[in-house]
Amino acid sequence: MSSQKIDRYAVMGNPIAHSKSPQIHQQFAEQTGEQLSYEKIKVETEVFVDAVTDFYHNNGKGLNITVPLKEEAFRLATKLTERAQRAGAVNTLILHTENNYTGDNTDGVGMVNDLTVNHSIELRDKDILILGAGGAVRGVLEPIITQQPARLIIANRTRERAENLANDFSDIAQIEVCDFSQLAGQQFDIIINGTSASLSGELPPLPDNLFKAQASAYDMMYGKEDTPFMLWAKQNHASAVLDGLGMLVEQAAESFYCWRKVRPKTKSIIQAIRNSL
Ligand code: ATR
Repeated sequence: MSSQKIDRYAVMGNPIAHSKSPQIHQQFAEQTGEQLSYEKIKVETEVFVDAVTDFYHNNGKGLNITVPLKEEAFRLATKLTERAQRAGAVNTLILHTENNYTGDNTDGVGMVNDLTVNHSIELRDKDILILGAGGAVRGVLEPIITQQPARLIIANRTRERAENLANDFSDIAQIEVCDFSQLAGQQFDIIINGTSASLSGELPPLPDNLFKAQASAYDMMYGKEDTPFMLWAKQNHASAVLDGLGMLVEQAAESFYCWRKVRPKTKSIIQAIRNSL
C-alpha cells in the first residue's frame, strides 16, 4: 500500500507536543496489524474547522480532539453519540464524508473500563464521591451513571457548578452535591478526583476518614510521581490508589475501536507508557 493511501488519524489540540496519543495508537496498530498512520497536529481554535476539512481531504479517517478544542468538535459533529451529547464535548471524530462527522466521547468509558476491567473495581451499588464539577467531570458522568452506583455525590469548591451539573443529569440520575467541608463524617467506596488541582500541585481541602474499608481512590490525572490526591489517599488508607494513565490508554482503545472495529489489548501498552514517563 503506498504511503499516500494509508488511512490517516491524528490528535488535534493546542498545545499538543506532550501528547502520548501517537505513541499509544502506533502500538495499537502494530499489535492489531491495522494499516494506519497517527500523528499530532497543533491547531488554533480559529482554524479548527478548516483543519478538519483539510485532514479529511488528505485521507483523514478519524481524529482525537483534546484541549481546548473538545467543545468546538462537539459543535462541528453532525451526529453525536449519547455519551458525547451528555459530555457536551467530543474527543473522537469519525470522518465519514465531508461535513458528515460522528462525534463521540470515550473519556468516561475509558475510566470505567480501567476501573472495572483492569483493576476489578466494580461501580455498581457503590457509594461514589466525585471531586470537581468542570469539563473533565461532565465528560465521565454518563458512563459512571450507566454502572448504577448506589450513591453519586459531587463535591466542588464552587457549589453552584456542581448543582448545574447535577441538574443536567437529573433525568437519568439523582446526583447529590455539596462543598468539601460538608463531606466530614461521610464515607465512600470510591473517590474520583476530577479537579484540576493536581496540575498546580494542590489538593482540595478534604476532611480525613472519607474512605470505607477496601475503598479505592482514582485521580483522573497522571504523572511520573503520585499526585497530591494520591498521596492523601495513601495517608488515609485507601486500599487501591490509582492514577489516570490507564484511563488515557483505555479512552484511546475505545477511539481505536470506534474507527477500526478492532479492540486492542491495553495491558502491555499501559505498562510501556508508564515506563516512558
Ligand atoms: P477541566 O476541563 O479540567 O475540568 P475546568 O472546567 O476548569 O477544567 O474545571 C476545573 C475543576 O477543578 C473545577 O471543579 C474547579 O473547581 P471550581 O469549579 O470551584 O473552579 C476545580 N479546581 C481547580 N483547582 C482547584 C483547587 N486548587 N482546589 C479545588 N478545586 C479545584
